[in-house]
Amino acid sequence: MAKILVVYDSTSGNTEKMAQAVAEGASKVAGIEVLVKKVDQAKVDDLLEVDGVIVGSPCHFGQMSAKMKTFIDESVKYYGKLDGKVGAAFTSFGGSGGSETTLLSIIHALLIHGMIVVGRSGRMHYGSVAVGSPSQESIDSCRDLGFRVANIVSKLAK
Ligand SMILES: Cc1cc2nc3c(=O)[nH]c(=O)nc-3n(C[C@H](O)[C@H](O)[C@H](O)COP(=O)(O)O)c2cc1C
Repeated sequence: MAKILVVYDSTSGNTEKMAQAVAEGASKVAGIEVLVKKVDQAKVDDLLEVDGVIVGSPCHFGQMSAKMKTFIDESVKYYGKLDGKVGAAFTSFGGSGGSETTLLSIIHALLIHGMIVVGRSGRMHYGSVAVGSPSQESIDSCRDLGFRVANIVSKLAK
């Protein structure tokens, strides 16, 4: 069975709600096992075990959080071994600015690992975004993101 890891950081719970919605969307695709881990509980070794990684972080000064950056930095241990896995990003920000730079900070790391990053032609091109606690539109976008990643993982697994 193909696996997807949703790994996220969240201080006040907003990105956590998004992570649950991303996981719900991914679970809708048959034959996909979805693991959801807060970054404190995740290990970089988990990355080896999955076919897709969806990374969520609150926007901290227009970038991923320090905890998520530490996790990403530790993933250099498996540099060259994550090539061809599917990746995507989501973030919650306060509404002042920096959501897209946060998504791009995550996406840069995924690309450097050689992952296939999932974008979107509709709203929220670079990944799913919420202002604070996710609105219904943001929840729908997160479900869609999870579903899209899971679909691609499923196709690649065949
Ligand atoms: C250290 C720090 C830096 C932040 N930087 C930004 C920022 O650059 N732009 C913004 O709009 N919100 C910023 N925020 C607000 C958070 O992104 C926002 O509250 C988010 O919803 C928190 O998500 P969480 O509940 O998952 O932690 C910052 C918050 C903190 C704690």
